This record gives sequence, C-alpha cells and structure tokens, in this order.
Amino acid sequence: MKEVRIPAFAKINLRLEILGKRPDGYHELRTIFQTVSLHDDLRLWRARKPGISLSVVGNAALSGEPVEKNLVYRAVHALQQELKDSDGIEIELKKKIPAGRGLGGGSSDAAAAMIGYLGLSGKKVASERLMQMGASLGADVPFFLQGGRALGIGRGDEIYPLPDIEKKSVLIVSPADIHVPTPDAYRWLNAPELTKTAENPKLWKFCVSSWSVQGTGLWNDFEGAVFQHYPRLSEIKRELLRRGATEALLAGSGSAVIGVFPSPAKARRAAVGFPLDETFVCETVSRAKYNRLMRGRSV
Ligand code: C5P
Repeated sequence: MKEVRIPAFAKINLRLEILGKRPDGYHELRTIFQTVSLHDDLRLWRARKPGISLSVVGNAALSGEPVEKNLVYRAVHALQQELKDSDGIEIELKKKIPAGRGLGGGSSDAAAAMIGYLGLSGKKVASERLMQMGASLGADVPFFLQGGRALGIGRGDEIYPLPDIEKKSVLIVSPADIHVPTPDAYRWLNAPELTKTAENPKLWKFCVSSWSVQGTGLWNDFEGAVFQHYPRLSEIKRELLRRGATEALLAGSGSAVIGVFPSPAKARRAAVGFPLDETFVCETVSRAKYNRLMRGRSV
C-alpha cells in the first residue's frame, strides 16, 4: 500500500457530567460522546527519508507550531516506537475542525493517524494496547478509535460503545473570537475533590439517564462556568433555540455551541443567523459508518 487517506471526525458530547477532581489532577467524567460528519483529512504515505514529516494546512496557528507538538506526530512516533519501525513517513493534515472549540479535533487527528499508520504499514497492535496508547496522548483519543455513540467514564478515556441513535442534523456555531483552553474550563469549574465515586448519587442518576439519551436530554456541566466567562456563548445557545433548534448545548469545554435541527435544510437556514461566526452543518455519524470510513482509502 502506497498511500492512505483517512478522515478525522469531530465529536460532540450529548451529555457531559463532571463528578469531581481526581487525585491525579484530572476530573472524573461521565459523558456520552457522538461523532459528527465535520472532519479533517489525513493523508499518509511512505517516504525515502527516515523519520516523520508532517505538514498542516488550513490552520495557520497549527501550521506554525513545531511538528513534534502536534498530536498526529506524537501518535505516529509512539506507534513507531512500539513497533520498532523506523521507516520514513510523510503526513499531510488538512484542518477543517476549528481548534479550541470543544470538538475534539486534535484527539481525532491522533486516532486517525494511528489507524492510518497501521493501515499503511500493515502492522497490528492489540486493540487494548492501542486504546492505552491513545489514552496517554489525550483523554479523548480512545473514543476516536471507536467512534459512533459511546459512554466515556474515568478521565473520559474508558469507553463503552452504545447503540447508535437515529441520524440527527447538527449545526455547529464556532465563535470566531472565543477560544477556550480545556485546562482553563476545568479550572473554572472549581470541582470538589472526589471522594467515593461509587456512592456519588450523580453517577447513578447519570447511569439511568444515559441509556435513554436518544438525542434528547442534552446536558453539559461546563455550561455554567464557561457561559459566565463568555456570556456571548449563552446568547448563541438562545439564538439557536430561537431559530428552530430542538435542543442546543455548549460543545465539550467550548467554545463551539451546537444545535440539533429537524432537517439539514432547517440547520442551513438557522446558520444565516450567525454571520460573525464560523458555522458547520453536519450530521451524526454512526459507529458502523465511522468504522467503514476510518478503514481509510488506499491509493
Ligand atoms: O487529556 P487532554 O490532554 O485532552 O486534557 C487536557 C487538559 O484537560 C488536562 O491537562 C486537564 O487539565 C484537563 N482534563 C481534566 N480532566 C479530564 C480531561 C481533561 O482535568 N477528564
């Protein structure tokens, strides 16, 4: 195989509850992830020159960063170490998912790079080990190795696939000027230290509600703190509802806000109401479709 092309999809969190601060400094989550069709594009091919070359297009800030910082580079580097493989590899990453918006773009790129790299090299890593390696790159990476709809617990890196829901149209509004660094959003929560997880009543409430989430009952614990810092984000949420969204919610730790619409046409019409922001009309992506598309296109 000479070249692999693979999409890296964005995610939304249909529910996101934060139980408290863990002894390791991370937060204990209960969340339901869902992949959506907005995606970056990765192309991986073999190179004569040893090492990993990565070029990033479509995001000036990311293109300007040292490549070693990029999660795609780190993901492939980790796999090469694991497999004791030093073949040269070139990677092109075309960014469409805006960064710092709670849509999981960087983590998704990392997962897609891992899947793409394994496809290109024809090598295998046991899925449990791959999930473990993903988790050490970022808490959201294990989810993107599975896709569809899934329950995430622990740091959000312990993943339990859930049955898919009926396809939904989603409008993502990404405010041009508001970028929320994830560690800041967690800090603003001022969450209590976690004591006895198993007895936490919030956990039980979540377990009951999560199985029944069919796209209704969206919830995000970040909304209070993040909306307080950026009142415009709650205005965007209100505007989405006013423009016909059946539900609207802050995406992850923000700053994007999502609206669920009865049809793509209605989502497109609503997008007109956000002339200052970047908008993306997309749909939920089932696990079956995700896995089909993530197998990558070999050229
Ligand atoms: O794992 P990831 O690099 O995506 O996490 C970014 C930051 O978000 C962490 O350094 C931490 O500050 C915060 N975080 C957290 N609890 C989680 C996930 C992330 O506190 N479950």
